[in-house]
Amino acid sequence: MPQKIKTDSNANEQLKIPQHIAIIMDGNGRWAKKRGLPRKMGHSAGGEAFIKIVGDCNKLGVGYLTVFAFSTENWKRSSDEISSLVSLMHKYIVKHTPKLMELNISLRLLGDYSAFDALTVKALDESVEKLKHNTGMTLCIALNYGGRDDIVHAVNLLIKSGKTVVAEEDIASALYTSGIPDPELVIRTSGEERMSNFLLWQTAYSELYFTDVLWPDFDRKELIAALESYSGRIRRFGGV
Ligand code: IPE
Ligand code: IPE
Ligand code: MG
Repeated sequence: MPQKIKTDSNANEQLKIPQHIAIIMDGNGRWAKKRGLPRKMGHSAGGEAFIKIVGDCNKLGVGYLTVFAFSTENWKRSSDEISSLVSLMHKYIVKHTPKLMELNISLRLLGDYSAFDALTVKALDESVEKLKHNTGMTLCIALNYGGRDDIVHAVNLLIKSGKTVVAEEDIASALYTSGIPDPELVIRTSGEERMSNFLLWQTAYSELYFTDVLWPDFDRKELIAALESYSGRIRRFGGV
């Protein structure tokens, strides 16, 4: 059962807190453009929003927070933008690992992040290692992640293990999200209303929440608005 808490906005309102929230953090580029800034400034503002939302989700008692940081399609961007995104992720993870430790948060990486440069891969692996005994919220960062790639990668693992016939449970347990419950809520910022190849298998029954707010402007208040919307949803899972 999802736990219920009282919100700031309405002390009488009971808010359902999903065990797993997944976020498509979109709109960094447009946020920068509106201000006449280079796109990379939008990404660094997005990084600040990200770290605050991690703290907010942790305080609210969310079990798993998954964020889409770099998709298998984002390689289509300019090499300049890709390298600023990768170096930002690298710096962020190094800078904030002590804070994640303090908050008892563990880290999972979803996707083939070995495609990034060796120093970034090393820094990511070190953070995962440092945080691995933490027992609080699990932060999952999707890096070079694609929902279709996730399924293909899982099926190939199953073939290698000798399987010739598979069940849903086999695929679920071979995905990058193995052992993680499916997200009850997916949030996408910036007004786009699509999945863009995020967690395709895992979101079969997720509630979707779209907001026009650009990712760098997404804060606790916006998170609570998403949770209020989610709390009013009736999830039928095909039943009545
Ligand atoms: C999201 O912001 C960050 C990543 C995809 C890495 P965008 O960079 O997609 O920003 P917009 O959509 O161009 O505004
Ligand atoms: C999705 O955003 C990927 C991430 C947030 C990392 P995009 O900006 O890449 O998606 P599209 O191109 O608008 O579908
Ligand atoms: Mg975008």
